Amino acid sequence: GPLRVLVFGAALRADSTNARLASLVARLIADTGATVDHATMHDFDMPLYDGDVEAAQGLPGGALALRDRIERSDAFVISSPEYNGSVPGLLKNAIDWVSRVRPQPFRTKHALLVSASPSLFGGNRGLWALRVPLEHLGTRVYPDMFSLARAYQAFTGDGRLVDSDLQQRLTETVRAFLTLVGADVRYVCLERR
Ligand code: FNR
Repeated sequence: GPLRVLVFGAALRADSTNARLASLVARLIADTGATVDHATMHDFDMPLYDGDVEAAQGLPGGALALRDRIERSDAFVISSPEYNGSVPGLLKNAIDWVSRVRPQPFRTKHALLVSASPSLFGGNRGLWALRVPLEHLGTRVYPDMFSLARAYQAFTGDGRLVDSDLQQRLTETVRAFLTLVGADVRYVCLERR
């Protein structure tokens, strides 16, 4: 069947540029015929990680929801802001909770990382920081990443990128990522026959 890709922006605010970038990536993925599961961090509401809470109650519902949606996907795309040169606590907290589930769902999944920021670097340092916990967990993080600079001015009214070269580059990055994921999924299927 078609590839299944989970896409979410790692911010809560309604006007998040990362939510907008996630929506654009979701559209580009759907254009290829793949199945998109478009999420927001509001779907994954959870408290700060606390080992006592985990021991008493197990994983919170929001973490289990994220676990389920990663598990049902072949790959995921995160559009994450950069906070103080690194991963936002919200996202790191979610990864930490989900990493406690067995089997641990990040393992062997493919991930594409993108970011949006009003700065000139587009939040790229945050993505390098985000690679560390994901690769630690065994996620195949795609080597190429996409960072959208000056993000408050970057979108057209219908959610595309004003700069058509950037729009093209994002489209190509998404397609190259899906080509890799598709080849890997087919290979794994052949191996299991
Ligand atoms: C920021 N911002 C920011 N931007 C950046 O490019 N590098 C950074 O290190 C930081 N640090 C930072 C820390 C904190 C605590 C906040 C709240 C913000 C600005 C950030 O990119 C901006 O708020 C974006 O709009 C956040 O993404 P969303 O909410 O538009 O998706």
